[in-house]
Amino acid sequence: MATQIEPRPDTATRPRHVAIIMDGNGRWAKARRLPRAAGHKQGVEAVRRVTRAARDLGLEVLTLYAFSSENWRRPEAEISDLMGLLRHFLRAEIATLVADNVKLRVIGDYRALSADLVAMIDDAIARTAANTGPILVIALNYGAQAEIAAAARRLACAVRDGAMEADAIDETRIESELSTHDLPPLDLMIRTSGEQRLSNFLLWQAAYAELLFVDTLWPDFDGATLADALEVFSRRQRRFGGL
Ligand code: IPE
Ligand code: IPE
Ligand code: MG
Repeated sequence: MATQIEPRPDTATRPRHVAIIMDGNGRWAKARRLPRAAGHKQGVEAVRRVTRAARDLGLEVLTLYAFSSENWRRPEAEISDLMGLLRHFLRAEIATLVADNVKLRVIGDYRALSADLVAMIDDAIARTAANTGPILVIALNYGAQAEIAAAARRLACAVRDGAMEADAIDETRIESELSTHDLPPLDLMIRTSGEQRLSNFLLWQAAYAELLFVDTLWPDFDGATLADALEVFSRRQRRFGGL
């Protein structure tokens, strides 16, 4: 019987948690006959704009896919450009994040990045840890399948060590092992640039998220595009399996 199933969550017209697959930097640059790095640079400007817009629009959490665990397949020079931009972003934005009461979080295996970046990230997280405003989550070296596998591994170890029964493993236990466990549920997942796939982003969390694919290339994304996306979201009817 389905009696254990919880009642459907409240359907709000405004999402609490929005995730964005920021795609299309390379195509933005190509259309202007610029190097791909120029597209990534403009992509960072879009991150700045959209982070502020998300705060103004009252989102609780904005999660941005900045570097996937599969992006290591790119040429070394491009990876190095991306890491350089991340360094620049952290250095330039930390004061604004602190002043804007934004709490920075990172998901993904960011400890595999270079030591100086890991230190900068840890410092930025620490400096915004006491902030009580919106949460900015940056996904770095993130892959959803690896995240789920890590959760399974930890639970398997707990069973092996006698800390829990195998039968106790359910959706809630798995969820509690994910990097997003203490964030509000994902309401809306946006992907820019016209591609219609999730590319290993938040696969578990997207189970009942609304998906929105927009043609805008990431460097062109701004507060107005985000507001349009929230408008579309407000007209969606979420049913969570109910009626
Ligand atoms: C997104 O833009 C940025 C990252 C994946 C880091 P792309 O670099 O994927 O741009 P396209 O898809 O080649 O246009
Ligand atoms: C997804 O974009 C990853 C990020 C936006 C960080 P990609 O451009 O890497 O995705 P694919 O390769 O087209 O699926
Ligand atoms: Mg891409």
